[in-house]
Amino acid sequence: MELSQRISRISVSSTLAVVQKAAKLKASGIKVVDFGAGEPDFPTPDSIKKAAVEALNQNFTKYTPTGGIPELKQAVIGRHAKDFGSTYAVEECLVTVGGKQAIFEAVAATINHGDEVILPVPYWVSFLDIVNYAGGRPVMLETREEDGFAVKAEEVEKLVTPKTKLIIVNSPNNPTGAVIPPEEMEKLLAVAERHNILLMSDECYCQFLYDGRKPFSLGHSSNRENLLIVGSLSKTYAMTGWRVGFALGNRDLLRSMLKLQSHSTSNPTSFAQKAAVEALNGPQDSVQTMLAEYQRRRNRIVEGLRAIPGIKCNMPEGAFYVYPNIGAYLKKDGITDAEKLVEKLLEEAHVALVPGPAFGTQDHLRISYATSQEQIDEGLRRMAKFFGAL
Ligand SMILES: Cc1ncc(COP(=O)(O)O)c(C=O)c1O
Repeated sequence: MELSQRISRISVSSTLAVVQKAAKLKASGIKVVDFGAGEPDFPTPDSIKKAAVEALNQNFTKYTPTGGIPELKQAVIGRHAKDFGSTYAVEECLVTVGGKQAIFEAVAATINHGDEVILPVPYWVSFLDIVNYAGGRPVMLETREEDGFAVKAEEVEKLVTPKTKLIIVNSPNNPTGAVIPPEEMEKLLAVAERHNILLMSDECYCQFLYDGRKPFSLGHSSNRENLLIVGSLSKTYAMTGWRVGFALGNRDLLRSMLKLQSHSTSNPTSFAQKAAVEALNGPQDSVQTMLAEYQRRRNRIVEGLRAIPGIKCNMPEGAFYVYPNIGAYLKKDGITDAEKLVEKLLEEAHVALVPGPAFGTQDHLRISYATSQEQIDEGLRRMAKFFGAL
């Protein structure tokens, strides 16, 4: 049977591929230090779990409105308003099965074959595959490591053509941890307005900012034509498995996204939605606890990586990833590329991480430090030994 061209344009998420490979080793009894998965090691806070259990006990286990229960839409809007001063109406909010579904639906609803989508490099791997699947043409915005992978509105504007439909930004960034400053974000929205295109801002890590930086969202703007916010509860509340995300923006666009949702997943899981209401409306102190811990881990891992000769490493400003440059070790000892290096690291040192080419750069590795301090220390020890022997 011949498969569709559409499906041949994409590949399995390489982050998931690493997770699977590491899981195989773990299953065979090997103690793997896992820096691969982009998910908090913290458990979902008890109050959130309790809300789900209550929902189950009350038999809240049936279909819900496709785009989410009104109570949850209010909670999403209310949290965003409190945190960022935004003023979205209920019709301007859609609840989705994780942030990923919001992104997928937004791209599917806006992109025709050959439409151009501007994507800063390094990018989160799914952005590229989702655009390719939709038949869009990714137009890469190269950034410079020496500039902290800064995304400049001026550079974005140079890439705009009559075919440009969408600009995707993600700050704090997966995989680099780089943050786009508020004034630059405003300029990006101005670019989208000037050319009447859509700016999709992925706020998945918006609560995880270090060194006193304040969470920021363009959502305070009244623009409903050129801005789509996508967000997720996965990282903020350690809820990756619950699959709850959202989109805030133009009501016609959201209605189109809802059409797709109605024919694919239908509603996000009923009792996960009740848990999400508690996450958004309940106490927020767990977020601050996680943030403080991530900052400690970030400091430790950057210090450890910089101590390995030849490795260069920017200081991440947010999220929970670090993106060291290991270019000095490529082409050594039969290591042809970063993928080969990652394979060797996993097989020989039992450290799992994701190769830079998955995010559009050749000389890097992505390390997720959403894991315990002991695992970080052990991982650093193993990496120092591994690189020292090359
Ligand atoms: C940048 C970015 N956006 C969106 C997501 C989607 O998260 P979820 O679908 O779990 O909400 C992720 C998850 O890793 C991510 O890294």
